[in-house]
Amino acid sequence: MVRNLVDRLFRILHDGKQRKGPSRHSGVSCRGVSTIDADFSSASHDFMMIRLETPRLTLMALTVQQMRWQRDDFARLEQTLGLAASGQRLEDELRPIVSRAISQMRRRPHHARWHCQWAAVLKEERRIVGSLAFKGPPNREEAVEIGYGFDPSYHNRGLATEAVGEMVRWALSEDGVETVIAETANMNVASMRVLQKVGFVITSATQRYLYWKVGG
Ligand SMILES: CC(C)(COP(=O)(O)OP(=O)(O)OC[C@H]1O[C@@H](n2cnc3c(N)ncnc32)[C@H](O)[C@@H]1OP(=O)(O)O)[C@@H](O)C(=O)NCCC(=O)NCCS
Repeated sequence: MVRNLVDRLFRILHDGKQRKGPSRHSGVSCRGVSTIDADFSSASHDFMMIRLETPRLTLMALTVQQMRWQRDDFARLEQTLGLAASGQRLEDELRPIVSRAISQMRRRPHHARWHCQWAAVLKEERRIVGSLAFKGPPNREEAVEIGYGFDPSYHNRGLATEAVGEMVRWALSEDGVETVIAETANMNVASMRVLQKVGFVITSATQRYLYWKVGG
């Protein structure tokens, strides 16, 4: 799956800049129930493992150790999370990105949730079908930027909308977060549609990109 996520996630996680937008609430739906489980078995750098639930998905904030497995041993990650073996592996291009995120999590463990990868697990199949991430902790405008990508085999079933909606709801409930922002290439109709459905509004545009926000 990951092949098709790489280009987008690479840019989303490492090239984009957080931008301030207008502060108007746009009505994100609150569909999930959040639970927090302690991940005491992991290294001391790991944070309390956060799991968000939507009707069809469990969204798992991966710990440092889980991200090492995501990078180096995807089968072990799946096994550890109690998932079915899918034969997936992380694309080579995504490895340095995950490595950098791990470094950030180790350097700033209190911000781990804003640096980690979030695995979207389709409950029905016990399979990772997408990845989401925030690009870092809240900026001075109390905004966090979200990025995401889903397995093409699972597109157009509303799964990204479900996941992004819940991640946004969760982020806006966190201290110090007033808005969630995102950017899309202006040709990326599917991603634009996801953001629209979640309640994002466009705050600015360039020739190639649209900038979005929700909350505030
Ligand atoms: C963007 C992405 C995450 C959407 O995932 P998804 O699970 O298919 O999203 P959803 O099913 O929740 O919603 C997709 C919407 O886009 C619409 N859509 C998809 N392709 C479309 C197209 N070519 N033209 C018009 N609408 C389109 C779908 O019909 C659906 O809208 P609807 O519910 O109103 O019918 C997925 O396409 C993806 O992983 N793309 C590659 C990575 C990426 O672009 N990430 C975002 C970077 S900003």
